[in-house]
Amino acid sequence: MSSSLLDRPLRLLHLEDSELDHELMLAHLRRGALAVEALRVDCEGDYLRALEQPWDLIVSDYNLPGFSGLVALDLLKAYGRDVPFVLVSGEIGEDTAVEAMRNGASDYLLKNNLARLVPAIFHAIEASETRRARERADLELGASKQRLHELAQHLQTSVEMERAAIAREIHDDVGGSLTALKFDLAWIARHSDTTEVVARAAGALETVSLAIEASQRIMHNLRPAILEQGLVAALQWMAARFEKRTGVSCVLRTPHAGLPSIQHLPAGVPLVAYRTAQEALTNVTKHAQATRVEIDLALAGRVLSLEVSDNGRGLSQDDLAKVRSFGIRGLHERARTVGGWVDLSSGPGGTTLILSVPLQEADEAGDTAEPPTPGPDIEDPTGWGDL
Ligand SMILES: Nc1ncnc2c1ncn2[C@@H]1O[C@H](COP(=O)(O)OP(=O)(O)OP(=O)(O)O)[C@@H](O)[C@H]1O
Ligand SMILES: [Mg+2]
Repeated sequence: MSSSLLDRPLRLLHLEDSELDHELMLAHLRRGALAVEALRVDCEGDYLRALEQPWDLIVSDYNLPGFSGLVALDLLKAYGRDVPFVLVSGEIGEDTAVEAMRNGASDYLLKNNLARLVPAIFHAIEASETRRARERADLELGASKQRLHELAQHLQTSVEMERAAIAREIHDDVGGSLTALKFDLAWIARHSDTTEVVARAAGALETVSLAIEASQRIMHNLRPAILEQGLVAALQWMAARFEKRTGVSCVLRTPHAGLPSIQHLPAGVPLVAYRTAQEALTNVTKHAQATRVEIDLALAGRVLSLEVSDNGRGLSQDDLAKVRSFGIRGLHERARTVGGWVDLSSGPGGTTLILSVPLQEADEAGDTAEPPTPGPDIEDPTGWGDL
């Protein structure tokens, strides 16, 4: 028995045309040590008015003159109230009882078996409280999941912005200084008569060249400058580099190469596609044991889709549930930042990861149309202009 029931009298709405039967029921409740504040109503109008008040329980006779328990149950549902409803009848058939339960009644009783009334009431109220608690918990869980999604998306976007800022600083500060240093060293080497100085300067030049290469590599990893040449070029470059590095054959297939609609995607989309392909290829290297990867990039209707499939060992639901794996989870969140989503399918033939992004700004006229120019008010989550 829930403690909240014992703290205060039970608010009971009784749909019953017989005052005698009402008194009889109250006597049963008193015998069951239930404190009750009861109201008896016997017609639809009074019942509907009573529904405006809060009730812990409704007990309804099945047969009422001009009204019925089943109609009362329907009205309660239509009213949007979640109050336990117990049907009581002199002669309730099994079919009627089943129908009532299917319509949401908590229980049904025969009038000649009112001994069951108190346990039935306890059970009905407890079940209703449990249901409400579960609904509350579900709502809270939903809200908390939503907050988590928002946080994850915010983190993805902030990481990209931070990366872009670091890349810019490396380019402007470190890159600029190293280039100046390279010129100075070359000047010293040219203007020195001492072979030792010339040799030292040549050695230093080599070191500086390595440092410039390293900073370019770091910059590229932080901010794939190749994207400035468009998503197709960037993916082509990525596929070629992947094949060279891993020895796994990798082809990019796209019917749109060079067409304006794929060259001028909405802000943020190319970077999301690029990072998705990057993570998918990293996963192939790390997990798939594949010998072949295909990347398909397509723009069908207003949906951009990027598909990366390998012929490797495939993955299972358990793989995706790994606590410390964030790559694919991150891809889901990343896709959401541009209104897209990621699907994964896997089987004995390998794994396929598909990113889909509906493009609101894309012109329905297709590839021959002029590319949309993002207005100044369109926020770029990456802070990288058209990338
Ligand atoms: N192409 C693939 N082929 C086979 N298994 C894969 C593939 N991609 C992912 N997996 C499996 O799914 C798991 C989850 O991948 P996910 O990218 O989310 O995490 P991870 O690669 O393990 O770690 P990280 O957080 O560094 O990305 C992997 O650990 C691996 O078992
Ligand atoms: Mg991964």
